[in-house]
Amino acid sequence: MTQTRIFAAFAAAFALCAWNALAAAATLTIVAGDQRRTFSQSQLLSRSDVRTLSIADSVYQRRFTRFEAIPIADLFKGLSIPRSAVIQCNGTDGFSAILGRARLFGTDPAASQAFLAIEDPKHPWPHLAGGTTSAGPFYLVWTNPRASAIGSEEWPYKIASFHVLPDARSVFPKIYPAADAPRNVQRGFRSFQKNCSACHTMNGEGGGSVGPDLNLPMNPTRYFAPAALVRFIRDPSSVRHWPRMTMHGFSAAAIPDPELADLIAYLRYMNGHRNRP
Ligand code: HEC
Repeated sequence: MTQTRIFAAFAAAFALCAWNALAAAATLTIVAGDQRRTFSQSQLLSRSDVRTLSIADSVYQRRFTRFEAIPIADLFKGLSIPRSAVIQCNGTDGFSAILGRARLFGTDPAASQAFLAIEDPKHPWPHLAGGTTSAGPFYLVWTNPRASAIGSEEWPYKIASFHVLPDARSVFPKIYPAADAPRNVQRGFRSFQKNCSACHTMNGEGGGSVGPDLNLPMNPTRYFAPAALVRFIRDPSSVRHWPRMTMHGFSAAAIPDPELADLIAYLRYMNGHRNRP
């Protein structure tokens, strides 16, 4: 009996140590071609370019606004990044935002500036609304987000890695409309990239795996009545609802009506270009 107890105590202590080690071991990896950099939270927090930012537009809104952060461009200094490169920000939750080089590393003081916020394990951030974990350990935040119209999906959190891709078109050819597709389809595609592709793949490509593919096996424009599809994108839970649904709606401020019409034109166009990977 005593032996069992002692064993149990040891097992518990060991589990706690292992858990602590895991919690302390969160790392961020940057991959650019054959170059690779890995940083721990403590390594990043002890850098001289860390500053404290006050950000009111994050996922926490005004509930929590102070972040220790590093200009994102600093982390990529010295890596060779082609001009046409896009940077894929991969979360531990399947979220995968793709941001253009100029947008992410821009230094124009009149534009939005991207920073990597780092959670200090000694001072954990609050849990996300309705969740049991925080946005940490690494979270991409923007100063002055209105200046460059930063969309809600351009604030990836729980980041595990950044991958520099030479250019989006050669890596994900099947999400692109043809060069001679109508202008509204091209515009809708850009809206899809900005607002949807972090969670949804198209023809199996694009990286996001939070929600279903939006063309395979069937495109939603085939099984949603047109008005219901608009309504779903604006407010998913007004069409159907269950406790664990995770897609949030896009208001007319996020995607104005004409842009939403373009986005649906793109979805409809892709229905005619279903291309199994
Ligand atoms: C934060 C992640 C996320 C983003 C961003 C997102 N979705 Fe979703 N979407 C989901 C998830 C997850 C589901 C499955 C339902 C659920 O759990 O909410 C879904 C479901 C859907 C469905 C229903 C598919 C089906 O057959 O049930 C459609 C259509 C859809 N999304 C379109 C879009 C469009 C268009 C955009 C961009 C404007 C978008 N989504 C942005 C996560 C997301």
